[in-house]
Amino acid sequence: MKKKPHSAPTETLPPEVRPGQSIELLKELHILTRDGKLNQDSRRKLKQVYHLFQFIEPLLRELPQQGRAATLADHGAGKSYLGFIIYDLFFKSLEEGRIYGVETRAELVERSKALAERLGFGRMSFLNISAADAAADEALPERIDVVTALHACDTATDDAIAFGLEKQARAMVLVPCCQAEVAAQLRGQKALALSRTPLAELWRHPLHTREIGSQLTNVLRCLYLEACGYSVSVTELVGWEHSMKNELIVARYTGQKKRSAAARLHALLGQFGLGSLAAERYPLAPLPEPAAAAETEEAAG
Ligand SMILES: C[S@@+](CC[C@H](N)C(=O)[O-])C[C@H]1O[C@@H](n2cnc3c(N)ncnc32)[C@H](O)[C@@H]1O
Repeated sequence: MKKKPHSAPTETLPPEVRPGQSIELLKELHILTRDGKLNQDSRRKLKQVYHLFQFIEPLLRELPQQGRAATLADHGAGKSYLGFIIYDLFFKSLEEGRIYGVETRAELVERSKALAERLGFGRMSFLNISAADAAADEALPERIDVVTALHACDTATDDAIAFGLEKQARAMVLVPCCQAEVAAQLRGQKALALSRTPLAELWRHPLHTREIGSQLTNVLRCLYLEACGYSVSVTELVGWEHSMKNELIVARYTGQKKRSAAARLHALLGQFGLGSLAAERYPLAPLPEPAAAAETEEAAG
């Protein structure tokens, strides 16, 4: 049976808890202890989620004016902290709109479904699928307004971007996690074009290979989004003291597809010996003219 979400008197709660917020939810997510306290770890988590919400809320508010209820898909949802808190703070008081959580771990999906049911959060759906399969899944609508991915592992952020492009998302809010794909390529190819330059020092040590791999991946992601018609901002999610994976990429659809971004993207892939990633990861970024012509000639034999 659904329970009516309740809120405790705010004066007994930590100041981080907002008026009207479901205390039951915060306890279920172990953000609040049973006696209504916040520990250091949950304070950090809540701070991250609020920081993200500050970017997401205005994006969601813009959408209903365009005649449709807002939809949001969260990739690599985990325990769905982000989805639940956004629902509680934004969707709960509305009549329509829906949040979809995409998560590969079945037990987390089941837990989230049960929690949403208990709280009466009726417009939340949890799908036990990978981010890569989400675009083709019939449980999701043809269009999604906002795509989020908070620390979705490895290439799941790339899959979330591909999903957002397919679903014509108006905005994507991404906090990438560790990334191994580009680092593995750097190790394998040794970025041939750059290997004799001092720049090769940037990835000589394994730790640096991993870091520059992540950095390069995020740069490529931003260029790809710009090439696909999004304006992109990159800031910090929270201070360095809270998390090492704190790059926040916010992309908003403008429709202006930047050819220069596509050209830079392909140039970077070429310089770093990453050309083999182009077709899978960046299929919608057009090759610059001479390169496209050379490819056509090559294909024609
Ligand atoms: C580090 S956790 C982050 C969870 C949540 N977003 C958060 O910040 O609390 C990453 C989650 O992504 C899920 N995941 C990893 N790869 C995925 C994929 N390709 N598609 C969907 N979920 C994925 C993992 O099972 C895990 O629950």
